[in-house]
Amino acid sequence: MLSIIGGSGLGRFPDLVIERREVVRTPYGAPSAALIFGRLAEAPVVFLARHGLAHTIPPHRINYRANLWALREAEVEQVLAIATVGGIHADLAPGHFAVPDQLIDYTWGREMTYAEYGSESTVAHLDFSHPYCPTLRAHCLAALEAAGEHFMARGTYGVTQGPRLETPAEIERMARDGVDMVGMTGMPEAYLAHELGLCYATLAASVNWAAGRGGLDEIRMEAIAEIQVGLVARMPAVLTDIIRRLGENNGLSQA
Ligand code: HPA
Repeated sequence: MLSIIGGSGLGRFPDLVIERREVVRTPYGAPSAALIFGRLAEAPVVFLARHGLAHTIPPHRINYRANLWALREAEVEQVLAIATVGGIHADLAPGHFAVPDQLIDYTWGREMTYAEYGSESTVAHLDFSHPYCPTLRAHCLAALEAAGEHFMARGTYGVTQGPRLETPAEIERMARDGVDMVGMTGMPEAYLAHELGLCYATLAASVNWAAGRGGLDEIRMEAIAEIQVGLVARMPAVLTDIIRRLGENNGLSQA
């Protein structure tokens, strides 16, 4: 079953037919919100609002361990992480999508592993050469193509601590590092999913030019909100198509 972790401004989907909500507890505490079990394009999905249903949890306070653990306990196999980002690469204008294939983690002080002292886990070191699941990435790319969206088919997602946006100097440095898009929630989410053996991919949507880019002197929150409105309208078609493709891939009919 697919799960969708919804990000800023994308915490709800009108097409989701809700069947039940489940408040879950994990050994790591409470997830950001109740898990919402429902159907999208007839297929079962579990939805989790990353920032909470009222969007009250900032990126550095999200209990990523509880979120991924809860999804795994719900017998989810794939996790589609929806993330709003700032565009650094010239192709990532506001309103464009990206399906990153690499990441750089600039966050600090977050609980970023299940491998703790005294835990039963032996996965202290884990290969992370491929942070994103190739199958789910391929479905995202095909769905974006079919929907006629503008998108970057690969790219490096730089994850900052937030909640503040970056300075132009920080973005310049990230660009020199090879970062194409900047967001605040991609880690440790991607790595925790990896530790749990979940197939995880990020569908990133640019909602602004990163600081100092796009010829703009500052980032305006009202402009971000406008872009988000457009994305919320276009996202369901893309998600529905991803789900249909996953179903076909699994030999299941989603008709
Ligand atoms: N920086 C960091 N995170 C973001 C941005 C940004 O410019 N836009 C959306 N999420």
